[in-house]
Amino acid sequence: MNKMITGKYDNWSLNLDENNILWCTLDRKDSSVNSLNQPILREFDQILNGIAQGTQAKALIIQSGKASGFIAGADIVQFKNLRSAEEATKLILKGQEVFNKLENLSIPTIAAISGFCLGGGLELALACRYRIAEDNEKTKLGLPEVKLGIHPGWGGTIRLPALIGALPAMDLILSGRIVNGKTAKKMGFVDECVPKRTLYKALMHYALNTPIQASCLNSWLTQIKQQWVRGSNHKYIRPLLAKLLYRQLEHKMKAAHYPAPFIALRNWVEYGINKPEALLNEANSIGQLIISDTAQNLVSVFFKQEALKNSAKSTAEPIKHLHVIGAGVMGGDIAAFAALKGLQVTLQDQSPKLIGGAMKRAYDLAKKQLKEPHLITAMMDRLTPDIEGKGILKADMIIEAISEKLEAKQNLFKLLESKAKPSAILATNTSTIPLEEIATVLNQPNRLVGIHFFNPVAKMPLVEIIHSDKTHQAVLETASAFVRKIDKLPLRVKSAPGFLVNRILLPYMMEAVVLLEEGVPAALIDKAACDFGMPMGPIELADKVGLDICLHALEKLTATLGNNSTPVPEALKHLVAQGYLGLKTGRGFYTYNQQGKKLKSANLKSYTHKIDKIDKIAMTDITEITDRLTFRMLNEAVACLREGIVDSPELLDAGCIFGFGFPPFRGGPMTYIKKEGHEKLLKQLEILSARYGNRFEADKGWEQVA
Ligand code: NAI
Repeated sequence: MNKMITGKYDNWSLNLDENNILWCTLDRKDSSVNSLNQPILREFDQILNGIAQGTQAKALIIQSGKASGFIAGADIVQFKNLRSAEEATKLILKGQEVFNKLENLSIPTIAAISGFCLGGGLELALACRYRIAEDNEKTKLGLPEVKLGIHPGWGGTIRLPALIGALPAMDLILSGRIVNGKTAKKMGFVDECVPKRTLYKALMHYALNTPIQASCLNSWLTQIKQQWVRGSNHKYIRPLLAKLLYRQLEHKMKAAHYPAPFIALRNWVEYGINKPEALLNEANSIGQLIISDTAQNLVSVFFKQEALKNSAKSTAEPIKHLHVIGAGVMGGDIAAFAALKGLQVTLQDQSPKLIGGAMKRAYDLAKKQLKEPHLITAMMDRLTPDIEGKGILKADMIIEAISEKLEAKQNLFKLLESKAKPSAILATNTSTIPLEEIATVLNQPNRLVGIHFFNPVAKMPLVEIIHSDKTHQAVLETASAFVRKIDKLPLRVKSAPGFLVNRILLPYMMEAVVLLEEGVPAALIDKAACDFGMPMGPIELADKVGLDICLHALEKLTATLGNNSTPVPEALKHLVAQGYLGLKTGRGFYTYNQQGKKLKSANLKSYTHKIDKIDKIAMTDITEITDRLTFRMLNEAVACLREGIVDSPELLDAGCIFGFGFPPFRGGPMTYIKKEGHEKLLKQLEILSARYGNRFEADKGWEQVA
């Protein structure tokens, strides 16, 4: 044994046990998470060199010294400082070299995986001979690099298809999907997934035993599997599979917006799993991607997301019992989601029937998310129907989600203030009523906070935490911590009409309705928005949200905003008056079948009185449609920043990305303005304003974003 290699390094420690197993533990200094950076890889390289020079160790086990998990990936702080593709490629090649050394060690190498094993962490594990995962809910494996605008670079795009075959490997690489230990075992890229109590035994088994001679049947099955894996990566098969995969990818995203998965697929078609050409190509390819605007923006979005997460302080008073009043669309789903995330919840409404509907939806959510019967039962046990409102007396937080009527909300909060525990947080999910107005009836207005969820609750990651001048700081902190506890992203927003998300989203959606009134087909408007990168067109979105809800919110916003606010389009009023409320009634701007599938746009004559304009607009250029839609958003975003609705441009970007799906690859409205150049954009606004009127007049905040 080379004595030099045992002992303590800055980030690693090495111990040889009585069985002559070498335990190599990564415990990154100055961080609660193991992420791979250059010093860590340099040390690992030294360790591997030492082992390669000769060792008495029978096997090497790589494990984590952190409670947070194995390895969360490469440290992406490094990405921000790269100046050129060459520099990035050089860095990647160095990492590849280290992982190749690991792969080529003559002794068995085993990754002991518990918690996060993502990106570069999984690539390191893939370079080991075996991978043993602990079966617990924290164990998560995957290659999520495409979500940062890149693809795996330390051999992942080669080792994974070589191990489990092209189709399951590409499924993980192209989607960035993350799976648990059991799924990883089923897919074949971990050898065992075992409970904590048998983890050590499993590791020892792989470290000390030479593989047992398999039975005839087993060895025959293994051979078939290996043939299939080899076959799926064969040069004649690759183009055929790639066609299928390419089509699936195109269905989900545009290569112009998110090039990384398309490039990963192309690389695999060209080089397959032929090391070392494929490795070199992988490094060159990722070098180009890392410095692209898309990757830089996506990395910045990652940090913005982290900033939202970190805005919640862990020292805040934890909420154990939540009481929700109003079991409708929002209240019912908020209650269910909180129960899903482990809170005790009581749910109140005016009749058992109304609560019954919410309980049924909660059960559907539990089945979908939890799958296992005992977990479903445990979640449903945490959610209690409470028609009498007994939970009010015990709850640490009460969220009101009753109908959007000021007087009803005020009456309710008066009652709550007198009945609830003095320490209980009083929260409203109102989407349009200023906090100050509700608080006028309270003796302690500093207890009231807005916790504004978006619909559908289970899917939307952002929650706006609304504060008035009076809201107590500790109340805000508890509200933010509660939102984090249920795995959502809290964004602090000033109490002002539309708060942040709806304030920016509504003008954009209403511009879409104006375009419709002018005769532009709904499908073309939706396409123009999707071309910019929005996840769904504004017309389809309005139908989904509910045209009555859009109309109500817009009327409120128009009444309170300044002179360039949006006049309520007649077409919208007309449809609502006729009872065409969107998806929920089977007809809105589009019509839908029983299953909610979009069929076509409703006949224009049925909702517009401006039929005379149709012929003229049929000629409209799609880029101008995109401009009209996006400039309404950008202008409003600038106004929000000027008014201090949120504290910083970064938070505004995060709010728009996680609140309504502003294209992440563009980094958010403020990043987009910066990249495009505010002077160029202002000129475009001027042209639009001359053509379409003062709703395009540049907000005075543009001077500040210059
Ligand atoms: P909803 O109409 O679906 O549900 C409201 C529920 O409150 C009904 O079941 C009703 O019976 C119950 N309710 C009314 N008064 C009550 C009282 N005094 N005590 C107990 N229960 C009472 O309404 P929805 O859509 O769930 O909205 C609720 C709140 O959430 C509103 O303030 C709305 O502005 C806000 N919101 C709605 C969003 C949406 O997309 N629907 C999105 C974000 C916020």
